[in-house]
Formats: sequence, structure tokens, C-alpha cells
Amino acid sequence: MTILVTGGAGYIGSHTCVELLNAGYEVVVVDNYYNSVPEVLNRVEKISGKTLKRYDCDIRDKEGLEKVFTENKIDAVIHFAGLKAVGESTKLPLLYYENNISGSVVLFEVMSSFDCKKIVFSSSATVYGNNPIPYKEDMITGDVSSPYGRTKHFIEQILSDVYRSDNDWSISLLRYFNPIGAHESGLIGEDPNGIPNNLMPYISRVAIGKLEKLTVFGGDYETKDGTCIRDYIHVVDLAKAHLCAVSKILETTGIEAYNIGNGKGYSVLDIIHAFEKASGKKLNYVIGERREGDLPAFYADASKANHELGWKAQYDIDKMCEDTWNFQTRNPDGIK
Ligand SMILES: NC(=O)c1ccc[n+]([C@@H]2O[C@H](COP(=O)([O-])OP(=O)(O)OC[C@H]3O[C@@H](n4cnc5c(N)ncnc54)[C@H](O)[C@@H]3O)[C@@H](O)[C@H]2O)c1
Repeated sequence: MTILVTGGAGYIGSHTCVELLNAGYEVVVVDNYYNSVPEVLNRVEKISGKTLKRYDCDIRDKEGLEKVFTENKIDAVIHFAGLKAVGESTKLPLLYYENNISGSVVLFEVMSSFDCKKIVFSSSATVYGNNPIPYKEDMITGDVSSPYGRTKHFIEQILSDVYRSDNDWSISLLRYFNPIGAHESGLIGEDPNGIPNNLMPYISRVAIGKLEKLTVFGGDYETKDGTCIRDYIHVVDLAKAHLCAVSKILETTGIEAYNIGNGKGYSVLDIIHAFEKASGKKLNYVIGERREGDLPAFYADASKANHELGWKAQYDIDKMCEDTWNFQTRNPDGIK
């Protein structure tokens, strides 16, 4: 079976490629390296001891994608390619709509014309907006606060319409919670360009001395220690969820959403303390103002994925922090 992985050189995509190769799938990656570097894919090959096929191609490039489908018999697609910075999306909404939504539409058109109708889509817990916690898949979604979040909601809606129009499609919408951690080899991990937007790469760059201090956004929320609570999940657990979702879509038709989270909430201070333990470093942090748009707390009810996909997260926050620190110390200047 051959799986096309869009955005396969990125953080979650690269860990998923490792798991796919380890499980015996043929892997074809399409990435324009907007937020990644080709070296990541060499490292994926090193970890797995297998080779993959790669195309330097933008998903908005219809002819480029047609070439990929002409040269490879693609059985299913895992669609990671997209821009993901919430703050940036409020400043550059058209870029986000163009890249994420137009790119996805081009991909679905090409899939359809090559009669490839099986897809796992990287959605996000952000689609739940202000729902009560824990989030469940049957809640009404779409009341989201950022253009980024809306791209995820719209793409879910587009895929629902595609399925409604043609019941031969098999679609899995994976709603990720907060992936952190790295592969335990220390060869791949989260390596954002510039100042990180997410908590974990920020913490690890403070710990290694690349950034001076961490500002925690808000210490006066109604949570156990006043800081925001999120459902952190090890990226390797998340990658493994894709294997379960691929097996399922290869066997069935339909459209289903699944929460991919630990089902537990950890506060920002929990993460800071676990990271201090894993790294043996005292972190320089201050409690600052709340950040606009941040919800106090959310976490997943992941029981649907547990029961229907046979998937469950294995790793705890200590392992997430140890693996992040291992990646950071082995790659102090990132992956070049
Ligand atoms: N990391 C998270 O916290 C998180 C949470 C929820 C959902 N997601 C979603 O999961 C997916 C993967 O996230 P990630 O953290 O691995 O991000 P990432 O930025 O590390 O990976 C995305 C990859 O897609 C590529 N890409 C972007 N636009 C492209 C285009 N037009 N054509 C071809 N390639 C393109 C980038 O170069 C990058 O390699 C994204 O869709 C993201 O929105 C991520």
C-alpha cells in the first residue's frame, strides 16, 4: 500500500512517515518546505532504515500533484500540509485561506480525478471553540476565534460535502490536541523557524539558552494554579493514531471525526516543572498578561478513538519533556 503524505517533512508528518515506513507502507511525500527542510526526510529514512519518495511540490500546484499521482499508485492520503500559526493567521487571513483551503481543494480534486478517495485530514481541537470540556466529537463545531481555526472547520465541512456527494469516499478527520515531544532517537522533533509560537519549543529554547525567558500568558485563570490547561500528547502517540486511521479508511467508506488527545489536562506550570525535571535546568519564566483568544482549559474525550480506532496514548508528560530535551540538546541550532 502506498500512502501520499502531504507536509511529510513537517513536525507531525515526519514522525508519521517513520511509523508508516516501520509498518511496511510505501511512502510518498509532497512538501514545499515552507516550514521544514529536506534534511528531515533523510533523518526519517535513517531512523526507519527504509527509503521514501519525495516531491518538492506545493499542494496548490495542480499539475505538480497530477504528476505525483501519475507516477505513483496512491492508495490513501494523509493531509498535513498547511500553515498553523494562530496569531499569524489573524494578521494574514488570506494567506491562510489560500494555502490551507485552496490547497486542500486542489488536492481533493486531483485525488478524485485519479479515483483515490481515502484521506486522513489533520484537523484540530480548535474547531470546538467554546464548548464545555471535555470535548466530544458530536459537539457542534465552528465557533472558532481565528482564521487558522476556521480553515480547519471549513476543510472538515468541505470533506463532509465531498462525502455527501459521493459515498465511495472514506474520510477520517483527526482533531489533534497539543502535540509535543520528539522521536526518542533525537533526530527529528519540532523545529520552528524564528521565535516559536508554541509553548514547548519556546521552553526548550529558554532551557538551552537561545531565548532569555518564557512569559506565561496569564496566571489568573480559574484553574488549579491559574495557568491555562491543555491536553498535551506525545507526537509519537499522535503519529501512531494515523496508522490506526489509515487501516480503518482502507477498509471502509464514510466520514468520521476522532479526538486525538490524552484525555488529561496539564497546566502550563505542570509542563514547566516536568521540563525542569527532565532537563535538570531551572527555567527562567515570568507570569504575564493573558493572551487574547486563549481559552482557560480544554482537553479531549478520546474514548471514540480508543474504541473505534483501537488507539490510545501511551506516553506521559515526563517522557514528552525528556524526548523534547533530547532533541533540543542534539540539535541546538535546529535541523539544517
Ligand atoms: N502542531 C500542532 O500543534 C497542531 C495541532 C492541530 C493541528 N495541526 C495540524 O497538523 C498539520 C501538521 O502540523 P505540524 O505541526 O506538523 O506543522 P508543520 O508546519 O511542522 O508541518 C506542515 C508541513 O506542511 C508544509 N506545507 C505547508 N503548506 C504547504 C503547501 N501549500 N504545499 C506543500 N507543503 C506545504 C510545510 O512546509 C511543513 O513541512 C497542520 O495541518 C496543522 O494545522 C497541528
